[in-house]
Amino acid sequence: MSSAVRAARLLMEIEPGEFRILQAIELGMSGYSFVPLEEVVKYSGLKQGEVVFRLRELDRKELLYRQPEPYPGYILNYTAYDCLALNALAKSDLLSSLGRSLGVGKEADIFDAITDDGLQVAVKFHRLGRTSFRETRRKRGYVAKRGHITWHHQSRLAAEREFSFMSIAHAAGVAVPEPIKQNRHVVVMGFIDGFNLVDIIELDDPAGFLDDILVNVRLTYAGGVIHGDLSGFNIVVTKDGKVLLIDWPQAVSVDHQNAEELLKRDVENVLNYFKRKYGVERDIAEVIEYVKGD
Ligand SMILES: Nc1ncnc2c1ncn2[C@@H]1O[C@H](COP(=O)(O)OP(=O)(O)OP(=O)(O)O)[C@@H](O)[C@H]1O
Ligand SMILES: [Mg+2]
Repeated sequence: MSSAVRAARLLMEIEPGEFRILQAIELGMSGYSFVPLEEVVKYSGLKQGEVVFRLRELDRKELLYRQPEPYPGYILNYTAYDCLALNALAKSDLLSSLGRSLGVGKEADIFDAITDDGLQVAVKFHRLGRTSFRETRRKRGYVAKRGHITWHHQSRLAAEREFSFMSIAHAAGVAVPEPIKQNRHVVVMGFIDGFNLVDIIELDDPAGFLDDILVNVRLTYAGGVIHGDLSGFNIVVTKDGKVLLIDWPQAVSVDHQNAEELLKRDVENVLNYFKRKYGVERDIAEVIEYVKGD
């Protein structure tokens, strides 16, 4: 079972006191590679006896990693972090239930979900450093110093970047899923009913479709942003033939030091795809000029 699904199921069983412990460990993780018991006690504001008791319960629910040596210390695992994010999103009257998996990428898991208002949304869990995290554990039996800070912190940063760049693009009129909310490593956005460009066997009007994509790349640039990972994998086509650009955590501002290079790569990826698959050719220099609005 995936981490997010397990988290969604556990949500009902986790008691308020246990959430306080999880939050205390989360807080401690910014300063410790393993959060010592005294710090969990301090941050949670609970009595030591209750903390020990609840830690045992959280361990039974498989939400923690415990380091026995050189001092007893605790960190959250991904499921615990998912629980904290899902709990916050449920508390703010946003998410009511998590549905099926929409995709498992190398650095994210995506699910559909229903909001309290009955709206269908997509929920993206960023999972940076997932592989290295597991490998480190396998190799050393415990998480290397800073290793855990990396996944926890990096995943949250990726979600923050994705949400903020999607919001800018959305405001600039780019066709992106509607950015709805972000909490920790999780981004909630509008659900798109469609297919990835790379999974489409034949487009009716490939040249027209390429134009639609380029209009959006131009709007993105006019909004001060470069997508940075544009390809047929991150372009979605809806059932009524609309194009949307997804997957924004690596976007950069147009004044980023590698902006030119990233823009060129984005445009090249798209043009090469249409050339190879549909024989539609465009001049890259002209397209870049067009995108920049020159
Ligand atoms: N808003 C959405 N609505 C419906 N499906 C979506 C939505 N966003 C993403 N998906 C589906 O999930 C897949 C993965 O999404 P996305 O590209 O954002 O993440 P990723 O590729 O896993 O991330 P990374 O590139 O960091 O590994 C997409 O290819 C698409 O099929
Ligand atoms: Mg992607």
